[in-house]
Amino acid sequence: MDPLHLRSAGTSVLLAFDSGEAEIVHWGADLGASIPDLGLLSPPIPHSSYDVPAVGGLLPQASSGWLGRPALRGHRTAADQAQSSVPGFAFSPALRVVSVEATLDGRGARIVQADADAGLSVASELVLHEGGLLEIAHELTNTGAGPYQLDELAAVVPLLGDATELLDLTGRWCRENHPQRQAVRQGTWVRSGRHGRTGHDSSLLVAAGTAGFSNRTGRVWAVHFGWSGNHEQYLDSLADGRRTLGAAELLGSGEVVLGPGESYRTPVLYAAYSGRGLDGVTDAFYRWFRARPHHVDTVSGRERPVVLNTWEAVYFDHRLEPLEELAALAADLGVERFVLDDGWFRGRRDDHAGLGDWYVDETVWPDGLTPLIDKVTALGMEFGLWVEPEMVNLDSDVARTHPEWIAGPSASSHKDGGRLPLEWRHQQVIDLVNPDAWQYVYSRLDALLTENNIAYLKWDQNRDLAEYGHAGRPSVHEQTLAFYRLLDALRAAHPGVEIESCASGGARVDLGVLQRTDRVWASDCNDALERQTIQRWTEAVLPPELVGAHIGPTHSHTTGRVHDLSFRAITALFGHFGLEWDIRQATPAERETLRRAIALYKRHRGLIHSGERVVADLGEPKLALQGVVAHDRGEGLFAAVALGTLAAEAPGRVGLPGLDPEREYRVEVLLPTPADGDWSDTFADVSRPGWLAAGATASGRFLAEVGLPLPILRPEHAILLHATTVR
Ligand code: GLA
Repeated sequence: MDPLHLRSAGTSVLLAFDSGEAEIVHWGADLGASIPDLGLLSPPIPHSSYDVPAVGGLLPQASSGWLGRPALRGHRTAADQAQSSVPGFAFSPALRVVSVEATLDGRGARIVQADADAGLSVASELVLHEGGLLEIAHELTNTGAGPYQLDELAAVVPLLGDATELLDLTGRWCRENHPQRQAVRQGTWVRSGRHGRTGHDSSLLVAAGTAGFSNRTGRVWAVHFGWSGNHEQYLDSLADGRRTLGAAELLGSGEVVLGPGESYRTPVLYAAYSGRGLDGVTDAFYRWFRARPHHVDTVSGRERPVVLNTWEAVYFDHRLEPLEELAALAADLGVERFVLDDGWFRGRRDDHAGLGDWYVDETVWPDGLTPLIDKVTALGMEFGLWVEPEMVNLDSDVARTHPEWIAGPSASSHKDGGRLPLEWRHQQVIDLVNPDAWQYVYSRLDALLTENNIAYLKWDQNRDLAEYGHAGRPSVHEQTLAFYRLLDALRAAHPGVEIESCASGGARVDLGVLQRTDRVWASDCNDALERQTIQRWTEAVLPPELVGAHIGPTHSHTTGRVHDLSFRAITALFGHFGLEWDIRQATPAERETLRRAIALYKRHRGLIHSGERVVADLGEPKLALQGVVAHDRGEGLFAAVALGTLAAEAPGRVGLPGLDPEREYRVEVLLPTPADGDWSDTFADVSRPGWLAAGATASGRFLAEVGLPLPILRPEHAILLHATTVR
């Protein structure tokens, strides 16, 4: 069978079938059109090894010499009567190619491999998207006579280059997506997520690269796993020198048992290769996101609206008049979407009660939400509403009426003696695998969206659950699919409504949920300093138009830090911009600065939400420079940020990456403005670089290679620069 060569945007994926199974023999730099006879790749056979070359297939398996983590694990009970209850059969499949089909004009492949004796067949879909992102998913079908218990089906890519360093992300509440780095060594490196949701610590990106790979240099092979439930991500590095990067759903005991003819589909593994550091990986993800037909429209007419979210402004203190006042102030400053957060539904005076009772609280809102919605829309803003549909407080009518709708480890409800999972923020999870519970939640949300003029849902999920269970059996797999179905059904019924994926901040940020939502809440932390890191790494994968970023109160509620408004504004600009602050408390001067920041965002959101992201490699560890450059290189917006005190007296000259070397640009400071009078708050110099007040003109090459001397930024301050072509 001829090899298949998928090519796109500087990336090649070369698939060979000579061994009898599908193998990715190259995933990396583009190979050009000419491929030699792949027989030349036949490896030597070492002593003390199998007598034939071992195959590291698309689905690595022991039957062809893979001694690492196999892609498929499971077993069946024997089909014949005598052994009908004995497990362990078909433990080691030998999947061999049945058919190969090139799809999508040569950018995709559909490969079927099967083992008739084991009664298993796997159909694999590969797509190399136009921006260079590779997508892999498998579907396993039980073609045998009896049930097959699936333990794991992983999607893997071979790590073929000289990757010696591994970078992954981890975090916790209010500190999502922090990088950690280590050497690639022999053995298996694994990250497990058992949160029942993606998890604050889940690694949005696992990147292996050549020594010292950085934002803009080195070769990098990176993967993301698009799933919102339990999962494992791993790098398997075998003694024979072969390595894979893989990910799989982490299934509970007996969670997936396939009857004859039934199938299981893996979540999608997304993989990006870059020959120019992490920025190239980011570019492949951004291009993929933005090419989706359902991607938020950032260009024509409906640009990402400026948001005001009420959470850090009023918390649970819902009263019409103050909220109307807040709305009027917000509209006056230029806000375009007003989002009413937690606290509007029955019994929800604090976080102990009410979840599940998705009816407007008549005691707080005697005339429903309509008066507020009317006010908000009359002011020219959209109205958004917070919901947490998968959750239930025991202190709620729905939990009292339907104790059997609570997910947990027991087959019977807690009213009948069953054990409940531990509470978390005083709440439990509704068992969406139960069709009645699913229908109830769907109907309530559908009614809310039908009866009220709601343009946006902030869809929250505020607890981990390690003990997801339906009718006494593990159910996080089914629960996650039921959650996806809920989103899909609501989007189909209310196509104009945008949905945000929030989970105590960023505990559900993944490409599975983002196929059916329009932005994420990156973190509950609105502290601009923390946000610098959180957003830098969230936006390594997600384009900024999908990453909610709000200007919080002067005194950060989650860290207690105080930051200048210009630093907070510059930080929020590089996302889907908004406010989360009781602006009734802001001083008139602060409000004027906010007005200018909002206008600035509106002027530049077209660029921020469509351009290519650049993150400079700087020698000064506490200095960051990142930006967005238009695809036509006509302009760029850059933020230089002092994340702490700098090691050197002065930041020195800093290059602006990504501009067209041949064109001439004019660079100006947009924030802080001298008009705000806060230059002296931001800079600590005796005299400033001459170009600062008047602007600088230089070629893109000069700006990248020589750079501009930055003023001496005080710690936790930032400066926003705009470069536009003059020639
Ligand atoms: C979560 C969210 C917050 C807020 C609260 C409301 O913590 O992440 O933004 O909506 O819930 O209870």
